[in-house]
Amino acid sequence: MQFRKKDLLGIKQLEPEEIEVVLETAETFKEISTRPIKKVPTLRGRTVVHLFYEPSTRTRTSFEIAAKRLSADTFNISASTSSIVKGETLLDTAKNLEAMNPDVIVLRHSAAGAPHMLARRVEASVINAGDGMHEHPTQALLDLLTIRDNKGTISGQTVAIIGDIAHSRVARSNIWALTKMGARVLVGGPNTMIPQDLDKLGVEVFNHLEDVIPEADVIMMLRIQLERQGKMLLPSLREYSKVFGLNEEKLSTAKPDVLIMHPGPINRGVEISPSVADGPYSVILDQVTNGVAVRMALLYLLIGGEKDD
Ligand code: CP
Repeated sequence: MQFRKKDLLGIKQLEPEEIEVVLETAETFKEISTRPIKKVPTLRGRTVVHLFYEPSTRTRTSFEIAAKRLSADTFNISASTSSIVKGETLLDTAKNLEAMNPDVIVLRHSAAGAPHMLARRVEASVINAGDGMHEHPTQALLDLLTIRDNKGTISGQTVAIIGDIAHSRVARSNIWALTKMGARVLVGGPNTMIPQDLDKLGVEVFNHLEDVIPEADVIMMLRIQLERQGKMLLPSLREYSKVFGLNEEKLSTAKPDVLIMHPGPINRGVEISPSVADGPYSVILDQVTNGVAVRMALLYLLIGGEKDD
């Protein structure tokens, strides 16, 4: 199966076979990043614009590295240093960028659905680099790649996602991605951070971290997103850490080959202790490395070949 899409807006719209194509393509691109000269001419002459309305370290840098390793020209626009601060709308900004004929616009925006709106209005391919509390599809794809690298398969793995599920676009994209690929997904966190209708997404909700640690093949810890909470949903970070934080003591009942994942940035000592984040089961930095390969694959699949639509 080929990947015939104009845009990458979310995992919800992808078929398992399309996800497989992205992962397989990412595998083939990994090797380029290990060469002394980390560059191939695949996207020479193509233009990628990174339009970020929210802060980012991993996503923005890895998109830029991915594009540059494929020889595309890249341009970065931040909300704080552009005419966005003068009140220009997203659509006007995008239309003005489009007048300069980019091939891809990578968008991170605080509003859910912003990349979808943009994709309908511009000719360039749009990649969702995180839209509000909705989706972060490239994060889920790099997480799948990391699980597959370490476990050989995604199907049949038990993956526990722990934390602020309600405010997490990473959780939403990973729930779609993991269930589509045949994993068993368990989610847990404070009741105030668990959406009501999660079971409709095919996941199981748990209340006690200690109950799921022994059966998990993968434990994915999420950051408490204080910036997205309209009100305080926790008694205290200390209490949260005690009940839902992962430390060496709680991890002592885990499987010997458990994987510890976190999308970053980490609140060290809140959702995860430094010794676990930096410990032998952690693949957190492998996730970051895989982010480059996955984003290279997506750029290649979207603008490197023939397209139907
Ligand atoms: N995981 C992730 O999206 O990190 P950044 O916010 O640093 O891009």
